[in-house]
Amino acid sequence: MSSPAPPRPPFEPYKTKVVERIPNPTREERERALARAHYNLFNLRSDEVRIDLLTDSGTGAMSDRQWAAMMVGDESYAGSRNFAHFEETVRSLTGFPHIIPAHQGRAAENLLFSSLCRPGSIVPNNMHFDTTQAHVLHQHATPVNLAVAEAYDPESDFPFKGNVDVPALERLLRENGPDKVPLVMVTITNNTGGGQPVSLENLRQVAATAAAHRVPVYLDMCRWAENSYLVREREPGMGSRTVPEIGRAFFDLAAGATMSAKKDGLVNIGGFVATRDERLAEKLKEALVLFEGFPTYGGLARRDLEATSVGLVEATDLEYLEHRIGQVRYLAGLLAECGVPFFRPVGGHGVYLDVRRFLPHLTADDLPGQALVVELYREGGVRAVEVGSLMFGTSSGPGSRSLELVRLAIPRRVYSAGQLAYVADVVGRVHARRAAIRGVRMVYRPERLPHFTARFEPK
Ligand code: F0G
Repeated sequence: MSSPAPPRPPFEPYKTKVVERIPNPTREERERALARAHYNLFNLRSDEVRIDLLTDSGTGAMSDRQWAAMMVGDESYAGSRNFAHFEETVRSLTGFPHIIPAHQGRAAENLLFSSLCRPGSIVPNNMHFDTTQAHVLHQHATPVNLAVAEAYDPESDFPFKGNVDVPALERLLRENGPDKVPLVMVTITNNTGGGQPVSLENLRQVAATAAAHRVPVYLDMCRWAENSYLVREREPGMGSRTVPEIGRAFFDLAAGATMSAKKDGLVNIGGFVATRDERLAEKLKEALVLFEGFPTYGGLARRDLEATSVGLVEATDLEYLEHRIGQVRYLAGLLAECGVPFFRPVGGHGVYLDVRRFLPHLTADDLPGQALVVELYREGGVRAVEVGSLMFGTSSGPGSRSLELVRLAIPRRVYSAGQLAYVADVVGRVHARRAAIRGVRMVYRPERLPHFTARFEPK
């Protein structure tokens, strides 16, 4: 019997112009760093980390064209030509007429939710990201996750685990109506649930359902290019369409969007809110001036806007996306060879380890996701993030349907295939000694967004 061919690294469609030395902390240094950081990897210094898979947000490498764009920054307070280019780029990609820049995704969320929500509002989403959930709660509104049942099954190969459960949405809208539900959000891709895509057909049904109740649909479009790539690959009839065409078909069904350009904008900082609603746009701009800055810079240097205009287009390039998603699949293929359990199918921006199957001997009280990220760092200086009960508390899903994952997020255009192979070795070694891994105990819990600042100790 022949064994399956080993995974092949994807072709890198770029060559290196600048290099950055990566740290190589010793085992003793890693142990000391863990203790000092109270076993919370957000407290590590980056020079204590060998491979940093904490997030794919704002951690990508800009291209030579983006760096060149930075040099044509026009730092005028009002009316910068970089804003004009940015506005024109976002308009032409999305079709949304009103573009309000913001320094990152959560600033866009703050603007949108503070303008649309009231105390007692209900905001449905396929799955809220943690900052999205926190901003809804900040308005004394209630976030509700309405992803399809398959989204909560790490072993199901359903191709669109980001999809919204449309009958559940219909029920929620019928019971509450537009007075209570100011908007429906759909997150593409669904980060909290494994970077999984939403299908165009599902968004069509969501849009029709919401329209019947006169409720607008907003997209959280952070990873819209990755979503479009996966739709192109998986959804019948989409294979011959370009990534911008597919993206545009999604935007055509929505009233607007929030964007963290730190993901599919290929920049280190930036974002925006976009809308078709002129009255809302005026309100958003008033809030913008209060919290972020004048409407032609939105809390950013104008050179950042220029780099974003270039990055937004580069992120739709097919060769770029083939490599991007290819890296995620390459890492998953290597992990599969070691028998490591992960969330299937592999999504757009990282491999999500399935903690319940990885550490079946630990209970929820042992904070197994946090225990696992500590072990990955201890073993090889790899920094990952828990996406589970710690990040989301008990509100991530109705009771037992919540997921317990550890995300290995891959920064865009940063790490080589050799470095990903190193990560797979580290995860494989931790997996081999998994039976001896103990839980952690939380010794300090902040009120909001606990995973950023909580402190732990080994059990
Ligand atoms: N929405 C989604 C789906 C996100 O993944 C994020 C950020 C945000 C909104 C907020 O954007 O960070 O620019 O304020 N996700 C990062 C992550 C932090 O690691 O997944 P931001």
